[in-house]
Amino acid sequence: MPDRDALLAALRFQLEAGADACIADQPIDRFAAPPLAQIAGPPAAPPPEPARSRPAAIASALALAPTGSAAEGAMASAAACRTIEELRAAVEAFDGCPLKDTASRTVFADGRPGSALLIMGEAPGREEDRLGLPFVGESGKLLDRMLAAIGLDRRNVFISNVIYWRPPGNRTPSQEEIMACLPFARRLIELSRPKVVLALGNAAVQTLLRRPEGITRLRGRWVDYPLDGGTVPLMPSFHPAFLLRQPGLKRESWRDVLAVRARLAEAGAWPPEGS
Ligand code: URA
Repeated sequence: MPDRDALLAALRFQLEAGADACIADQPIDRFAAPPLAQIAGPPAAPPPEPARSRPAAIASALALAPTGSAAEGAMASAAACRTIEELRAAVEAFDGCPLKDTASRTVFADGRPGSALLIMGEAPGREEDRLGLPFVGESGKLLDRMLAAIGLDRRNVFISNVIYWRPPGNRTPSQEEIMACLPFARRLIELSRPKVVLALGNAAVQTLLRRPEGITRLRGRWVDYPLDGGTVPLMPSFHPAFLLRQPGLKRESWRDVLAVRARLAEAGAWPPEGS
């Protein structure tokens, strides 16, 4: 039996490697497991389900759950919302995204609802999951500094994500998870009626624009995001977490932020309400 210190060191190593969520009671030997196609294929007569613990059920749901119907449920629920507060309640009540099972809490939004500038990120990380607010970890602190540099803060911007629950270990959200949340993210943009959207990082930009190109190609160029028969200008830019790893790219990011400020001014939204 390894001693306590060795066990703690092993746990710390796993945490540092990003494995900080427990999703099953027992480890799964992926080399011994049958190929996914075999698991997912339609069995002639399904064997009776063995009783299994909730975490194991969550693990298999994460791997296989078809979320087409979840996305339809999300669409109906989002479309029925008339206000941002109704949308917040609908997201909190929504059970169609498997990430909800492993997250500690729903992270909906922060800042002033209805602000001229709406910032859309990817998904909550560990700190966001702990506090229930978007962008409150290290990348959030950088975002706050970027906003402060053009005279903005959380009293005059609205901040949300395209995913409302933390992916275990901060892994990239799957297509199914993204599609289950997308109707809410779209409705948030409709209900917020921003003058400008700033979308941060690959996941947010590709999800909202349904474009396959990476952020390096898309950033810095305005896109007309369709909204109620009209459009709202959307600026794709680097994610602050990426900038923390690649500080040399902050210069490009600064240009994007200045372009956002200029566009807000053009739209008559400078200085922003709440300043
Ligand atoms: N990264 C994001 O994209 N969103 C958050 O809320 C935190 C980190």
